[in-house]
Amino acid sequence: MKLGILGGSFNPVHLGHLFLADTALCALKLDRVVMIPACRSPFKPDAEGMENSAGTRVEMLAAAIAGDSRLVIDACEIKREGISYTVDTLEDIIARYIPDGKPALIIGDDLAVDFPKWRDSEKILKLADVVIARRLNSAAVDYPFPHTLINNEVMNISSHAIRKKISEGKDWRSLVPAGAAVIIEDRRLYGFSGAGAGEECSHALILRVEAAARETLSIERFIHSRNTAILAHDLCRRFNINPMSGYLAGIAHDLAKQLDSEQMMKLAKKDKAAITELEKEKPNLLHGRAAAVLLRERFCVHNEDVLEAVAVHTSGRENMCSLAKIIYIADKLEFSRNIDPAARKICNGDDLDNIFFTVFGKTVSKLQSRDLNLTEETLRLLDRMKEKNR
Ligand SMILES: [Fe+2]
Ligand SMILES: [Fe+2]
Repeated sequence: MKLGILGGSFNPVHLGHLFLADTALCALKLDRVVMIPACRSPFKPDAEGMENSAGTRVEMLAAAIAGDSRLVIDACEIKREGISYTVDTLEDIIARYIPDGKPALIIGDDLAVDFPKWRDSEKILKLADVVIARRLNSAAVDYPFPHTLINNEVMNISSHAIRKKISEGKDWRSLVPAGAAVIIEDRRLYGFSGAGAGEECSHALILRVEAAARETLSIERFIHSRNTAILAHDLCRRFNINPMSGYLAGIAHDLAKQLDSEQMMKLAKKDKAAITELEKEKPNLLHGRAAAVLLRERFCVHNEDVLEAVAVHTSGRENMCSLAKIIYIADKLEFSRNIDPAARKICNGDDLDNIFFTVFGKTVSKLQSRDLNLTEETLRLLDRMKEKNR
């Protein structure tokens, strides 16, 4: 196995790190790159909180490289504690991985200029082939020790700059792999103070539910669910509801839509509410209730508003919470629905009840024009709407 070794603080991991690993794998025809988060870097001995953040840095790295078997995380420097010296790490890695030939020690050109001053640099040269990649400089430098230079593109990204952007509320998300960005937002790392998802609707949870929707639904149904989530997110923001609860309920609302009738019925029965004759005849009417059960049982969602919004998105219900009204609206008006543009403009109103009852009224009229039976819940809500309009 031809091995590459890429150390760093990974505080946080960013796309520059992944690009560097990828470039080294291809340019040097490596089988694997071992990524080694430092406990405390000898180059940044005063960096605050490095040892304390070790677990989180490893988690972010793991999230960033998920599914890529070419990349390995090795926590040897964290286990060793204290200042992390490359020479110790190399001996340890060679003993455990037994690579074919010398491993490639990949270092950025920002650190390479000082390589001769590293602890036991002569021994490092005996143990590994030093490979210098362009990190921040594109100018040619004459390094006075044996090395291979990778002529890679320079990605001008640094963890320091990302931490600064996060703390200043500037754009940083596109610089950090999605899995790591989710951890930063959910745990409010590096002074992140943007609109967080909140514990109950964390980004990590949303990613899991979205992945399940992508895997189980047809691509058209998935796009519909995602568009519903986006419109629900925007409506929630306008009506002062946690936008991520809107996204979560939107992405999940049709999660059970493509299950067979028997599975749908089995799941829906678990919510303990009665199953009507009409629902027995047309189990598809239960797909919202079934999805709510899936959310609670498989994804441990206990936010009652999210569960109600998913459960009643087909029929509506008297005294629905605001989030349930929003999901009902978003499901009917999202971008991929081929509807009259004027009907879509209803969304711009500033009275949620008015928007909801307009959309509900039109949906019911459409069902009636197709001679479809309405559920008992829908009929009760229709009566309520008529009373309101009297
Ligand atoms: Fe649905
Ligand atoms: Fe839907």
